Amino acid sequence: MSFQAPKGVSEYVPPRSATLEAAREAFAGSARLACYGYLETAVFEDTALFVRGVGESSDVVRKEMYSFEDRGGRELTLRPEFTAGVVRSVLEHNLHKGALPVKVWTAGPAFRYERPQSGRYRQFYQFDLEAIGTEDPAVDAETIAVAWDAYAALGITRLTLLLNSLGDKVCRPVYREALQKFLRALDLDAETRERIELNPLRVLDDKRPQVRAQLANAPVMTDYLCEACAAHHEVVRGLLTGLGIPFTDAPRLVRGLDYYNRTTYEFDHALLGAQSGVGGGGRYDGLSEDIGGPPLPGIGFAVGLDRIVLAIESERGAAAAHPGTGCQVFGVPLGERTHRDVLTLVTALRRAGVRADMAFGTRALKGAMRAADHSGARYAALIGEAERSHGTVRMKDLENGEQRDVPASEATAWLIERLSS
Ligand code: HAM
Repeated sequence: MSFQAPKGVSEYVPPRSATLEAAREAFAGSARLACYGYLETAVFEDTALFVRGVGESSDVVRKEMYSFEDRGGRELTLRPEFTAGVVRSVLEHNLHKGALPVKVWTAGPAFRYERPQSGRYRQFYQFDLEAIGTEDPAVDAETIAVAWDAYAALGITRLTLLLNSLGDKVCRPVYREALQKFLRALDLDAETRERIELNPLRVLDDKRPQVRAQLANAPVMTDYLCEACAAHHEVVRGLLTGLGIPFTDAPRLVRGLDYYNRTTYEFDHALLGAQSGVGGGGRYDGLSEDIGGPPLPGIGFAVGLDRIVLAIESERGAAAAHPGTGCQVFGVPLGERTHRDVLTLVTALRRAGVRADMAFGTRALKGAMRAADHSGARYAALIGEAERSHGTVRMKDLENGEQRDVPASEATAWLIERLSS
């Protein structure tokens, strides 16, 4: 009997896994430049944290959580997203009692029981960034700029930034009521009618043409923003323009989690079809209080690293997308007793910071050279019986085929010099 990973688990093996790593590193690098600190936090949390934090009316909490009871009778859930856990962790470790905002990033797997398809998985990978403790609209723009620069560093160009404001506890209830009034008058199925009462904004997200057609004249939040929210939104828009970050006003943009208010945004990729959302985020000024903390406004975003990999592949082609292992030197032992010499050489190279690999097992010259070519290395370093007795290493430049014998004692220095020129 053989096993397969459970349905919907996304896994990465070389060489494709290098693209996932590069994606996470690009976002981490951008976050570090903006002085966000690294946070490693719980993969599972009390179920109630997500129910209260993410919200009882969200699809994520109602239908998609991996919840279980542990052996001690605790109700736990694998994180379906990071934000609620990050805020919980910030509060638990009293980071909010120091300098504000608390700026942190984290990354890893998240879990949602969704219908798997390309770009949508049950175990997927997010990079997540949060700035907690200020209402300043400049931090809204900062989070967007950090994401924007990471997409750019990855060479992702077919990207649209959708921007909206969801108002706050003053103006959203007024809008919600106006929207409900409009929606109740439409011809909709029972499930959608139920949604009007539970979470009317989500109805705006309906993808079915017969529903979309009826929504053309639906009221939009931006027309209902109170003075403070409208001013905040205008500042964010102005800051983004000043930073040279193009955006599209998306007055119908609704996010799938309940904690959002004011600034919300999504990054959409043009080539990914139905799962085009490669990242999204926004403000959650009430989340801390919802989970029993003090008033503590916050904003952040998460990107789906799986979809970033797909975006890179769709723009560059799968073959060009994966950087490989980046091996620089490949050692080739020819004959039983030469393995030790080659292992000694590649170890010395590694200790000097050179990425080096070697042929294992007993391979004939042809097979070993094929492995050297496959590794992507610039140089092959061959040691056979003859080289061994002369105390030399045969260096082969795999780009132009040139060969040359170098004294074994100088081999490391010789390779380092060639590789750095
Ligand atoms: P979200 O929009 O639910 O937001 O997820 C963020 C990103 O994760 C999405 O844009 C998408 O790229 C990716 N994603 C979500 N579900 C899946 C899935 N099933 N398979 C593959 N990728 C997926 C959040 O999670 C918020 N916590 C973001 C945030 C941070 N808001 C404020 N701070």
